[in-house]
Amino acid sequence: MSRIAHAQHPIKSPLDDDSVSRLLERGLPKDGGRVLDLGCGGGEWLVRALAVRPGLRAEGVDTSEVALAQADAAAKERGVRERLVLHQQKAEDFVSAEPFDVVLSFGAAHAFGGLLPTLAAARRHLAPGGRVMIGDGFWERPPSQEAVEMLGDFADLATTVDRVVADGWTPIDGHVSTRRELDAYEWSCWGSLAEWALDHPADPDSSYALEMAGTRRREWLHVYREAFGFLSLVLRRTPDGVGA
Ligand SMILES: C[S@@+](CC[C@H](N)C(=O)[O-])C[C@H]1O[C@@H](n2cnc3c(N)ncnc32)[C@H](O)[C@@H]1O
Repeated sequence: MSRIAHAQHPIKSPLDDDSVSRLLERGLPKDGGRVLDLGCGGGEWLVRALAVRPGLRAEGVDTSEVALAQADAAAKERGVRERLVLHQQKAEDFVSAEPFDVVLSFGAAHAFGGLLPTLAAARRHLAPGGRVMIGDGFWERPPSQEAVEMLGDFADLATTVDRVVADGWTPIDGHVSTRRELDAYEWSCWGSLAEWALDHPADPDSSYALEMAGTRRREWLHVYREAFGFLSLVLRRTPDGVGA
């Protein structure tokens, strides 16, 4: 279902192609280096990173066999497969003998229990002077109890950034997803799923997929569209004893 829902939006987060390119440009080393993606999904961030940096090597971690098969196919299609290693396991259990110059994690903070635990995990993998690129939700407006139960307990934008800074990180760039990006992502996911169901009426999963697309679209429009925002940050460690 997730693969079908993301057919038109391979980045499984509410960011458009220009935003992804700009964030990668800010986060990636100019030449060479190693990048890790915790919760890489279909590998789209890594494949785009490898395509724009021929000297870069990448590793992706995800629990989903289907998502990793997509990452494998996408990397082969774009001629970067030999520079990509994929690990099917829990991101929180991943260990590596060598640190990484960049650690990415977009839309996967729930796996670690939130934004700060995700940053703590990223830090364990980060080489000195390295960068973290992270994307997670925040509340644009006070959420309903139902929205909190559905998406998790975020903070507002300013509080979210304050917490990251207090945790010892300095934002060197960032992006707040626009209304257009947020809406495009939801329309694309639930529209693709609904269209697949309409195109495959004989498939045993067709009616389930159509029902799910409708439920998710209603939840978005009725429960969280007004409240949910998405923040992407490019971070470096703040030197000890220095405020940012
Ligand atoms: C919203 S998707 C984001 C994928 C990718 N980062 C992107 O932006 O395109 C979240 C991903 O986290 C993965 N995930 C969830 N729990 C995980 C865990 N404990 N360890 C590793 N991956 C996990 C899911 O399988 C899914 O691929």
